[in-house]
Amino acid sequence: AHQWRGVIREYADRLPVTESTRVITLGEGGTPLVHAQKLSELTGSTVYLKVEGMNPTGSFKDRGMTMAMTAAVASGAKAVVCASTGNTSASAAAYATAAGLKCAVLVPEGKISMGKLSQAIAHGATLLQVDGNFDNCLDIARKLGESYPVFLVNSVNPARIQGQKTGAFEIVDSLGDAPDIHVLPVGNAGNITAYWKGYKEYSAPFESETAGTLPAVSTKTPQMWGFQAAGAAPFVAGHPITEPDTIATAIRIGNPASWDGAIAARDESGGFIDAVTDEQILDAHRWLSAREGVFVEPGSAAGVAGLLKKHAAGEVPTGKTIVITVTGHGLKDPQWALRTEDGSEVQPVKVSNDVVTVAAELGLEEK
Ligand code: F0G
Repeated sequence: AHQWRGVIREYADRLPVTESTRVITLGEGGTPLVHAQKLSELTGSTVYLKVEGMNPTGSFKDRGMTMAMTAAVASGAKAVVCASTGNTSASAAAYATAAGLKCAVLVPEGKISMGKLSQAIAHGATLLQVDGNFDNCLDIARKLGESYPVFLVNSVNPARIQGQKTGAFEIVDSLGDAPDIHVLPVGNAGNITAYWKGYKEYSAPFESETAGTLPAVSTKTPQMWGFQAAGAAPFVAGHPITEPDTIATAIRIGNPASWDGAIAARDESGGFIDAVTDEQILDAHRWLSAREGVFVEPGSAAGVAGLLKKHAAGEVPTGKTIVITVTGHGLKDPQWALRTEDGSEVQPVKVSNDVVTVAAELGLEEK
């Protein structure tokens, strides 16, 4: 049977690598494209979820990190640095370990989930909690990358975008063509930039650095529909937000680094970037776990929240193919699953160690 070899080896002829490149990989990519039955029934379109929580560190960041860490090693770097709301730091820490590099991560104090924090620590990164938000952390990380001997692995590094574009390739390879609409959460805007790059490259002949001219794979490109958290929606406001706030800490970002990339993706694709409230995000988070069987972290549900919002407004077309990237695993930030809709904590039912009591509690009658 074919063993998936990670995104660099699977898509080597479409990435800036050669035969002699030392590839740093943990087997990322090749994630499931799951048919979302309930979302499809609801909308009358065929809806798929690209389940990026199935990557090695539990988020889509691994696609970019394999490229960034490969570039770091090629450059002779000894140490890498990133700013993060949590997932990038988890990924950087793991891939730095695989590469044998030191890793420093800057995170906003008190605003990252326990799961993500534990990953960075487990992989031996030096973790600094900065008295500021993600945008402040990224400022410092960029300055460190410019003026100190550390290699920056945030998505302002073009290697990250190169790796993350493979998400679009996998979707087209699975469906046989591009979807009509691609929906995803938008934070620092690297991912919407990367997907759009991937879809564009697959829809036209591609000049490979190693394999000559490759033919187009898809006949079209999708509309890109991006969704931000309402309290952290600079693209909706049209300017950076100085005090971004949302329970979806992954996308609590006010000054996205890939501003121009996101605007190009939105406008060239004929799509839009809109906002969803925290309540809509948590509703979509619950919808995915309870109705589709897919457990994601809250920020990851912003795309689904957006689709549900647009559907309620009568703005989702029927008969189309729609792919939604769900960006990170539910176990990253499990506390939200343990709350009911009214905000109270879920209490497990306790029973005695006895089959008759358990059957009665389950409402079962003996057959
Ligand atoms: N979803 C999740 C789960 C994320 O962690 C992020 C970004 C996004 C969506 C937004 O993607 O930034 O490419 O627009 N997380 C970054 C981090 C900022 O540090 O982990 P984007």
